[in-house]
Amino acid sequence: MKTLDIGLGGYSILQAPNMTHTQMMSYIIRTPNGKNIVIDGGRPGDAEYLREKIGEYGNHVDMWLITHCHDDHFCALMEILRDQKDMTIEKIYYNFPSREWLNKIEPMDVNNEFIDIIESHSDLFFVVKQYDELEIDGINISVLNDPLSLTKETDTRGIGINDTSVVFRFTFPNKKTSLFLGDLGLRAGDLLEEEYGDKLKSDIVQMAHHGQDGAGENVYKRIRPEVCMWAAPMWLWNNDAGKGFNTHTFKTVIVRGWMEKLGVKHHAIEGEGPAIII
Ligand SMILES: [Fe+2]
Repeated sequence: MKTLDIGLGGYSILQAPNMTHTQMMSYIIRTPNGKNIVIDGGRPGDAEYLREKIGEYGNHVDMWLITHCHDDHFCALMEILRDQKDMTIEKIYYNFPSREWLNKIEPMDVNNEFIDIIESHSDLFFVVKQYDELEIDGINISVLNDPLSLTKETDTRGIGINDTSVVFRFTFPNKKTSLFLGDLGLRAGDLLEEEYGDKLKSDIVQMAHHGQDGAGENVYKRIRPEVCMWAAPMWLWNNDAGKGFNTHTFKTVIVRGWMEKLGVKHHAIEGEGPAIII
């Protein structure tokens, strides 16, 4: 397991490895007193790894955060909720646009299935809103953005479900920070930069949209991270269509260049296997 020690003071962030060769996003944050926070979780094929890891961590999830309504983020949770076995989950936080909006923008059966599950587990799911603050074992988790802001636009061209990602910022007791951007797109990223500017500065960042075509360089210039977490398999990290480095259509190599310009030295890449930041 790759370990990056930046001094989180007894807290850890595990970036789960990719089990299906396709992009997905899954993190477990663990506190010194054994509290567990999961972010997203990945696809159905990622559920087993997640079960094992959560099992090792005590089989109880205190907080589960879902960034947005896409299957590479919520399907592992959906799988687990269908059969929790011995796992217990206290609260799941999310904020999705209306079913109608989702079905208009990107009609997907699986999204409707997940919303059905949310509706049938109303004791478990809680909506988070901009400026909400969650506290757990010394960590402050702030919701920086309004994930629904772009859904109010009448002209929906160029707006996708990615733009409805909830941006969570973790502040650890020693003031180290980790920013989770989900799959935030360009326009939603611009809104974030406009509102926060240099206040976005964070020690760790989860690269928007698997590092491949999300928030713009302007956002990262404000974040000035020390560590980048890339929820990307190796082919995506290398933008490799099977014909070698940078032969695909994704922006990952360009985004890597932005981080090089910013002098970022530490990268955790999902395709390399599990990584833990402590
Ligand atoms: Fe995604």
